[in-house]
Amino acid sequence: MALIRLAKPSDARSILDIIAESNHTPENYPNNGFVEYTAPREWAYRGRISSTPLIYSAESEGEVVGFLAAYPLSAIWEQTLANDPLVGKLKKRYPQDVYFDQVAIRREWREKGIAQNLAHTMHRAATMMGYKGIVGAIYSTPVHNITSAKFVEALGYTPVGLTQVNGLGFDIYRKTLESQKDRNARMIKKMFDQALNL
Ligand SMILES: CC(C)(COP(=O)(O)OP(=O)(O)OC[C@H]1O[C@@H](n2cnc3c(N)ncnc32)[C@H](O)[C@@H]1OP(=O)(O)O)[C@@H](O)C(=O)NCCC(=O)NCCS
Repeated sequence: MALIRLAKPSDARSILDIIAESNHTPENYPNNGFVEYTAPREWAYRGRISSTPLIYSAESEGEVVGFLAAYPLSAIWEQTLANDPLVGKLKKRYPQDVYFDQVAIRREWREKGIAQNLAHTMHRAATMMGYKGIVGAIYSTPVHNITSAKFVEALGYTPVGLTQVNGLGFDIYRKTLESQKDRNARMIKKMFDQALNL
């Protein structure tokens, strides 16, 4: 079992280690992993964690075994992220959305539902904060990250376009968030339905 919690600045080192071990390798993971990704420095990652409420860690026995990082597109300031051309494109098109940047789980902890739990936690927080949707990009060329495409599709994201950045191809995926008002109404109805079925 892994506990899902908000990331702390002191998680930055573990998160960067998980990013490093999640790089795509044709031999072991032909359809998964980060491709040609330059990770930020530890101090920059600490800054990201302290300035956004949408970075989460999965922890087991005091060890960070996975993380998810998302950022409101309207409030990205940290340089390596703000200068990313992909972020620029998404910000122009979806200014009221949250950018789903990265999720990765340590290899021995994969396929246990941890990434899905992290994503549900982020979706709930983004809904409460009033964002309209979540948008992210999955590598499609030179490597198609099929595992991640299946992962986001299972979460209700749909493809909304393709883009090229620095010679790499990406599929853009988006999920519209239910408004907090609609969510509350649905929860109340569910409670009544359950009570009536007792
Ligand atoms: C993609 C990744 C984050 C998934 O993490 P995970 O904790 O193993 O995923 P979950 O167990 O929560 O799986 C949720 C759903 O994703 C899909 N999925 C996950 N792993 C899969 C696999 N190996 N093959 C096919 N579908 C898969 C399934 O639909 C699954 O639902 P199901 O179990 O009901 O079938 C993980 O493989 C990883 O760390 N990859 C390397 C980094 C990366 O590529 N990140 C994504 C780009 S930002």
